[in-house]
Amino acid sequence: MSKILLVTGGASGIGAAVARIAAERGFSVAINYRSRREQAESLVSELRSLGSRAVAIEADVAEPNQIQHLYARVKQDLGVPDAVLNSAGIATSGLRVEDATPAELTRLLHVNVLGVMLSCGEAARTMSTKNGGSGGVVINVSSMAATIGGRPGNSHYAASKAAVDAFSVGFAKEVAAEGIRVVSVRPGFTITDMTKDRLEDAAFRQVIAETIPLGRPARVEEVAAPIAWLLSNEASFITGTCLDISGGGFAIASAPRQG
Ligand SMILES: NC(=O)c1ccc[n+]([C@@H]2O[C@H](COP(=O)([O-])OP(=O)(O)OC[C@H]3O[C@@H](n4cnc5c(N)ncnc54)[C@H](OP(=O)(O)O)[C@@H]3O)[C@@H](O)[C@H]2O)c1
Repeated sequence: MSKILLVTGGASGIGAAVARIAAERGFSVAINYRSRREQAESLVSELRSLGSRAVAIEADVAEPNQIQHLYARVKQDLGVPDAVLNSAGIATSGLRVEDATPAELTRLLHVNVLGVMLSCGEAARTMSTKNGGSGGVVINVSSMAATIGGRPGNSHYAASKAAVDAFSVGFAKEVAAEGIRVVSVRPGFTITDMTKDRLEDAAFRQVIAETIPLGRPARVEEVAAPIAWLLSNEASFITGTCLDISGGGFAIASAPRQG
């Protein structure tokens, strides 16, 4: 029997790239999407052409009843998941604290934090050996923003991702003895739908490149590959930690010492 992977926000970006690698490695894959039905269905066709059982399932991860429905559909269509990648997330670029509205903040926290927590709750309910499951792996997609409070105008987003890191470490301890590994991954600036419009601005692109030690943003495959490795048995002793996939983090301009 092939292993089963659920990817939230899987129709695009990092989630879709991991789904492709997983399908190549024989996983059955459930692609959760919110608004991107066409992208999700096209990806599912692509995964099926690789020999994977794949399905697309609509759900807004910010809605508790839709998360429940998502896991019920995965179980019904493919079986109990062995792996979950919580990749669904939204950004709030250029949002100064004084300008943020309660509605914007509520949505951000509901998607980036509540969505991850609720998905992890369903994962534990279905995958934990305590609950009759076979264990597995949960990977939560955080961000390097969590480590520095975000780039300017990203403090809310950074805080939402710091919550993902703290939650993942705690959740990992809770379910370690029940066969579930949990890891939070922190990508640096990566070229996806979330960032590609901003990267079209040459000045912005240069600033980003200068702040990353490797001198450029990541290609999505460079983020997906380490996540796929964390999903594999080669990472069987890794849990309760955060992995930076960041080209070296944030560069600080060096200046010669004076006097
Ligand atoms: N790209 C970067 O530089 C970067 C860096 C660090 C961390 N990350 C994180 O990586 C993750 C994936 O982002 P990405 O870069 O791959 O960008 P992306 O292509 O925009 O992927 C995000 C996906 O999440 C989905 N999504 C958003 N809200 C959702 C909801 N409420 N329910 C279900 N799905 C939802 C989006 O679909 P809809 O458009 O239909 O909502 C989209 O398919 C995010 O958590 C992001 O914060 C990205």
